[in-house]
Amino acid sequence: MEKISVNLEKLYYGFPVVLISFYDQNGVPNVTTVSSTYTLKNMMMVGLSSKGFAAQQIKEVKDFVINLPMRTMEQEIGICGSHSGRDANKFDLAMLTPVKSSVVNAPIVGECPIAIECTLKDVIESDHFGGLTNLMAEIKGRCADEGYLSAEGGLELSRLDPIHYYGDGKTKGFKFTV
Ligand SMILES: Cc1cc2nc3c(=O)[nH]c(=O)nc-3n(C[C@H](O)[C@H](O)[C@H](O)COP(=O)(O)O)c2cc1C
Repeated sequence: MEKISVNLEKLYYGFPVVLISFYDQNGVPNVTTVSSTYTLKNMMMVGLSSKGFAAQQIKEVKDFVINLPMRTMEQEIGICGSHSGRDANKFDLAMLTPVKSSVVNAPIVGECPIAIECTLKDVIESDHFGGLTNLMAEIKGRCADEGYLSAEGGLELSRLDPIHYYGDGKTKGFKFTV
């Protein structure tokens, strides 16, 4: 396959959109849209802008939840990804329901069928990649709506309908595809 070199600021090749939720330092629930995550075994990695409210707060409070919204939640994803928690309680703004986790001190987004409960273990910030904060966290619990589980108790893949984020830095706004 012939390829030409492309001058793109970034090339995001389809990352599942998640909502990261936490109680801020005042105990108020808040939530932010994120696409830069991955998980391996009991580890969760999250890539955040250092100046965002979520990064600054989670570094202090440590506990957070990664929630997987389905495609029906496009509007809520947009709201949580376009306002800062510094100015608003985005659970209220997006009309989402905070449900206290029983294993970490963080709220689960009630409307998302899948949630992964995490505690921050390491923060990776490098002068080479200024402005980026990577959160390395331990997974303390996982929960799923029963409707998304197979008879064997695993994920029922046919029910999952998440949104993936692709971006090249050229197009303004966010492109949602499946
Ligand atoms: C689809 C989508 C994906 C996003 N992915 C990320 C991400 O991976 N990391 C990040 O820091 N911000 C990401 N954002 C932007 C933040 O959600 C946005 O800047 C938000 O207003 C930050 O809020 P906060 O200040 O409350 O943390 C994304 C936004 C959208 C809509």
